Amino acid sequence: MNDNELLRETLAVTHGERGQAPAPGVEDVVVPLHLSSTYSIPDIDPDADLELLDPDAGEYLYSRLSNPTRNALEHRLAALEGAEHALAFVSGTAAIAATMMATVQPGDHVVAFEDLYGGTKTMLNRLLGEKLGVEVSFVDATDVSNVEEAMSEDTTLIWMETPTNPLMHLCDIEAIASVADEWNVTFGVDNTFLSPYFQNPLSLGADVVVHSTTKFLNGHSDSIGGAVVTDSDDLMDELAFLQRVGMGSMLSPFDSYMTLRGIKTLPLRMRQHEENAMEIARFLESHDAVTRVLYPGLESHPQHELAARQQSGFGGVLSFELDTDLDGTAEFLGNLREFPLAVSLGGVESLIEHPATMTHSPLSLTERERLGISNSLLRLSVGVEHVDDLLSDLDAALSVV
Ligand SMILES: Cc1ncc(COP(=O)(O)O)c(C=O)c1O
Repeated sequence: MNDNELLRETLAVTHGERGQAPAPGVEDVVVPLHLSSTYSIPDIDPDADLELLDPDAGEYLYSRLSNPTRNALEHRLAALEGAEHALAFVSGTAAIAATMMATVQPGDHVVAFEDLYGGTKTMLNRLLGEKLGVEVSFVDATDVSNVEEAMSEDTTLIWMETPTNPLMHLCDIEAIASVADEWNVTFGVDNTFLSPYFQNPLSLGADVVVHSTTKFLNGHSDSIGGAVVTDSDDLMDELAFLQRVGMGSMLSPFDSYMTLRGIKTLPLRMRQHEENAMEIARFLESHDAVTRVLYPGLESHPQHELAARQQSGFGGVLSFELDTDLDGTAEFLGNLREFPLAVSLGGVESLIEHPATMTHSPLSLTERERLGISNSLLRLSVGVEHVDDLLSDLDAALSVV
């Protein structure tokens, strides 16, 4: 059977890992961790393009340019998104920066979701806006007409996340892809929150997808990494130049190995994250001390129908608001046992985060209030523990609110 015919549960475990014999006669079942920074070559080649070495053709010269462990991971990431190409970066942030560098020039215009990951928003404002003279329009992309209205002759990139953090807003990928096509601009989607297991933006018309592999893809909170995935050969060439030469921000062999290992259980983990998150969302929705629950899997979510249409699952992240103030919220957090207070998400362990004082503290109070990030809003990254233990812990802590 050809790998194109395999399902994601199989691709996640085996793709990219076969045929990587480290020594004659040795057939590893698991891809080896290739730590060598340099490789001896048989002879000189005056025609070699050192920026675009093809590892599949055995072209190895120096590990920043190509590395067998990273190459195996890149193959698996592309396969999971159903894409032609993938590149692994040193962080999600580096993957996003490279994609922006590949698609935007000084004087260009970008249309972006106003409700993006804080670091991406800062990158757009400071790196693109202040340093490169790029104009950025942040819009409420839950309504596609706002994206349409913000487009101009100078627009070269539309940048979206769906669902967003921490408000769990969605945008309609297919509808925005039509706008991008009409204006002939690149459409990028950060797919970190759902992973390729629950959403494939390229199949809905996006041109390029990025991931913070730090989150669900690696899934064990022990590696920082990022990925860019695309079907476009031209974009791939430019991104490979940036990854290897322009920025030198490729993923290390060790983190590539860790992420390959983590991805093997992505489908299993995602299904359990979702099952647990759904039960917790329903429990919180029925609790008197909770004023609202934001989870696209709930029928009460204003974009539940869109989530059901463009995603194949609702994911493991949800937010909720307590019927109390900052002090009451702090007391609730102090009473939890199974939810460490920590940023990041997507690991097997559950985490809780307080956006107003943690991830979104760089935003002004006015901006937080405008977006709906109150002092009693909390975000859960629901892990794969037994859900009864998670529910009891939340129930006990809620009794103090
Ligand atoms: C949606 C999203 N995109 C990108 C990033 C940045 O990823 P990294 O921390 O791997 O650089 C994050 C990090 O929290 C994120 O939540």
